[in-house]
Amino acid sequence: MKTIGVLTSGGDAPGMNAALRAVVRTGLYNNVRMMGVMCGYDGLINGDIDDLTLSSVADIIHRGGTILKTARSDEFVTKEGFKRALNVIDVFNIDGLVVLGGDGTFKGAKLLADAGIPTIGIPCTIDNDLGYTDYTIGFFTAVETVVEAIGKVRDTSSSHGRANVIEVMGRNCGDIALYSGIAGGAESIIVPEVEFDIDEICEKVIRGRNRNKLHHIIIVAEGVGNPYNIAKEMEEKTNIETKVTVLGYLQRGGTPNTLDRIMGSEMGKLAVELLIEGKSARALGMKCNDVYDIDIDEALKAKNEFNIDMYNTANILSL
Ligand code: F6P
Repeated sequence: MKTIGVLTSGGDAPGMNAALRAVVRTGLYNNVRMMGVMCGYDGLINGDIDDLTLSSVADIIHRGGTILKTARSDEFVTKEGFKRALNVIDVFNIDGLVVLGGDGTFKGAKLLADAGIPTIGIPCTIDNDLGYTDYTIGFFTAVETVVEAIGKVRDTSSSHGRANVIEVMGRNCGDIALYSGIAGGAESIIVPEVEFDIDEICEKVIRGRNRNKLHHIIIVAEGVGNPYNIAKEMEEKTNIETKVTVLGYLQRGGTPNTLDRIMGSEMGKLAVELLIEGKSARALGMKCNDVYDIDIDEALKAKNEFNIDMYNTANILSL
């Protein structure tokens, strides 16, 4: 393994830079030439690739986003685009790749591995929607961002005696809603994995109001549907003014928390060591506090189980 390429792809996640730093430094420590591919798989197609040195990754462990930039590449999955990427890999003498991203990124990694390019995937997505790993890099930083926002919305909610529906990201996965809802003391948490009853939610709001509660925070995962419709129905049924806050992309930015930096550092190091050992088609994950690797095909097939016990806990605590 003389030359390793590294890229970040899909939605960015806080901690990607920490992982990238670990990949580059572990490679250089082992006398491997390290090359950064810009803008995800698009960079492989276009040959947007350059050397990475120790100083290329200095002063980035605490930065959100990704210094390599990212993209969701439609072209890479076309026959033509993939062929061009393989040519570029050959021209730059890249012997192996580390790719940082979510399930779309891992599908790309599998294509490369199947085509004989040793490739390792590091799970970076705020959604935490990869079933084989307890957590993905970026998830807990995003949750902390949401929890901070809930606290702020709660202040104004109490001042005005309003209800507030807060939409959070997560595509079809309710984990950001669940974790931030529990930590932020939300009254109800609406996720795509569990059917919800608007009447039950309204009843809870009215019960709270009857005991002089002035804030009503309802967290809605984006995969559920339109938060404005939910707010409108709530307002009609409770007669309590109901506002909507869509947190959107601010959940994807910001300085990564300690856990995301540590996961990034450990996984980045392991990814390069696996390539040096001659491994390919592995996805890195975290189980019970340990970083481990698993066949990328198995990782992609693993069903993402929603934590219904935590969801029930949230319901009990927000009676
Ligand atoms: O995958 C992370 C994520 O932030 C999702 O939560 C969200 O649905 C999606 O990306 C938004 O993607 P884009 O950056 O392409 O708009």
